[in-house]
Amino acid sequence: MSSASRRPLIAGNWKMNLTLAQSVDLSRAVRDGAASASGEVAVCVPFTAIAAVGAVLKGSAAALGAQDCHWETQGAFTGEVSAGMLADAGCAAVIVGHSERRRLFGDSDEWVNKKLGAALKAGLTPIACVGETLEERESRKTWRILQTQVEQGLKGFSPAELAKLVVAYEPVWAIGTGRTATPAQAQEAHAFLRGQLRRLHGEAFAQSVRILYGGSVTPENVDALMAQPDVDGALVGGASLKADAFLRIMRFSAAAPASADQ
Ligand code: 13P
Repeated sequence: MSSASRRPLIAGNWKMNLTLAQSVDLSRAVRDGAASASGEVAVCVPFTAIAAVGAVLKGSAAALGAQDCHWETQGAFTGEVSAGMLADAGCAAVIVGHSERRRLFGDSDEWVNKKLGAALKAGLTPIACVGETLEERESRKTWRILQTQVEQGLKGFSPAELAKLVVAYEPVWAIGTGRTATPAQAQEAHAFLRGQLRRLHGEAFAQSVRILYGGSVTPENVDALMAQPDVDGALVGGASLKADAFLRIMRFSAAAPASADQ
């Protein structure tokens, strides 16, 4: 299980899914289940659902988040939403640098760095995503990619400024594929990422940052993943859209036997 100093976080990423009515239903279930969750809970919802889901979650143990933000505070940026606007709308968290944004919408490490800064300035908890593609893993570039994404993404911020940072390791080959990283693969990558955080800002900082795993997390595999010492939570896509599945993930048990690790 994650270090006692790091409170686990289970975050749902709804991506571009659900009607408003479905969003309200699902967020009611998450709200009701959050009090008995094994850690903190958040749902990162589409912009259009922020107000409705925010009204449901208000005063509950479940936090509201968004899936992206722009780095400028305001202005002529058609289609974009600023971090300050998200905070104003009731969000406490925002995902930055999701691989779908990197791959489909051109988010670069430089953009992720700017978005991270905007999120921090707005008082949001940034969930900064990193992860390698299958091709990068197979050509043994995983560690180089992760190092670059962390270095560039966190560039220019002090440990104090990064106090709220959450990192999500999401191997691209495991996202939406049903092919999850094994607990051992996740632990190896998380330990590497924590090593990068240590290299940048020292041991106390590295030990304080939560590193979530994302990529085909399900009720069936969450316990074994959460049993890994450097896995501090999960960023859940598909399974976060089903109340039963997400509630079970929220109630993970990190006491999985070592034999389930592979
Ligand atoms: P899946 O859980 O659907 O694989 O998605 C993971 C993800 O991208 C969460 O941000």
